Amino acid sequence: MENKDRGSWGSKFGFIMAAAGSAIGLGNLWKFPYLAGENGGGAFVVVYLGIVILLGFTMMLGELTVGRATKLNQYNAYKKINPKFGFIGGIGILTGFLILSFYSVVGGWVMKYIFQYILGGVKDADKMGYFVNFITSPVEPLFWHALFMGVTLFIVLGGISGGIEKASKIMMPLLFLFLIIIAVRSLTLPGAMEGVKYFLIPNWSEFNLDVLVKAMGQVFFSLSLGMGTLVTYGSYLEGREDLPSNAFTIPALDTLAALLAGLAILPAVFAFGMEPGAGPGLMFGTLPRIFSVMPLGGIFGLMFFILVFFAAATSSISLLEVPVSWGIDALGWSRKKAVVIFSVLCFIIGIAASLSNGPWTQKFYFFNPDGQNFFDVLDYLTSNILLPLGGLFLSLFITFVWGYDNAFAEIRKGSKNNFALSGFWKLSMMIGVPLMMALVFLQQTGLLSKILGQ
Ligand code: PHE
Repeated sequence: MENKDRGSWGSKFGFIMAAAGSAIGLGNLWKFPYLAGENGGGAFVVVYLGIVILLGFTMMLGELTVGRATKLNQYNAYKKINPKFGFIGGIGILTGFLILSFYSVVGGWVMKYIFQYILGGVKDADKMGYFVNFITSPVEPLFWHALFMGVTLFIVLGGISGGIEKASKIMMPLLFLFLIIIAVRSLTLPGAMEGVKYFLIPNWSEFNLDVLVKAMGQVFFSLSLGMGTLVTYGSYLEGREDLPSNAFTIPALDTLAALLAGLAILPAVFAFGMEPGAGPGLMFGTLPRIFSVMPLGGIFGLMFFILVFFAAATSSISLLEVPVSWGIDALGWSRKKAVVIFSVLCFIIGIAASLSNGPWTQKFYFFNPDGQNFFDVLDYLTSNILLPLGGLFLSLFITFVWGYDNAFAEIRKGSKNNFALSGFWKLSMMIGVPLMMALVFLQQTGLLSKILGQ
């Protein structure tokens, strides 16, 4: 089954940059600050951090272990361990596919904004109106969507060490550099402290179960968990890597990026007296307003959207690599064939996602009484249902099918301290993950509020 197009990582640093690149993305820069802005600031942040510490490390280690033990794509990895369980991997591949379809639409918006800032920024007085006009127009977003998919395709064509790793090694350090510069600028604005307080001091009166579920979905999305991205990336690792230390470093870098993003965005929002709860428009509507009044705002705006582009591109390549790796291992395709076929398919589904913001704005009421369009449904279905479901499957699979002895044996290969955290990991995987998922599903289906009589 080994195919010469499979490939492997060239260095430990390269692997960390690629995995952190997958994790750090629009989830950190676009979603995290607006979710914090909408859900009580510090309260959301504290709950989020708690879930990352208790479950993020656990699931990341679980995925990396399954990948390295089997050296196969997400579908065949599960199937190799037990032939009946390939379906777990299959659901993950499909999920990745659905995420990439709308993710690349937003990636396209980011490219459009870079272009706009090269031309000197968003000139319209009404920045939010400009954003809404742009995303609801039929043709232009499709052009940028195609361009973004094209960049993703081009990098993944280069393979693991020559494409994904190389791009991540350049983009990720620059991303951090730019993000730190912008956070410093934002934090030194007069009135910035209000935003810092809002972001870091929890206001527990705004906490409720809905915040908990949103934080949970965000942990999955932001850490690229629940669909086998880390199974896939782990499958390109050698036996001598220390998996627990990687499973710690990647979430730590991802969390650092999310916190920096919050500190880059929210203090500026408060300093200029704007609303933190603008939702998805926070980055594309509110921020351009700030850049337009800030000294040297055009340069900061350009730098900001370039860094968001780096974040989005290093994530979209990991999304594409999941089905590509399946095409290579399972179907015996060349990398080129797999990359082209899956990119085109994602582009086509993405057309519907993009148009659903404008001309095809059909609402789907079975997801939400207010009605969500296809774009929102893809986002909601993947982050809040399919990814947590993937996490639950991983936990049940390790507990009941693969067994902890096998998992421990794999993790101990290369672990410098003989996997000192094995007790915590087992407890968290066996009990913490299913418990959290049960809570999420009860809340999502409205059963929890019935039980609690709220
Ligand atoms: N983690 C990425 C982000 O935060 C998105 C992503 C989700 C990437 C799932 C891969 C898999 O933007």
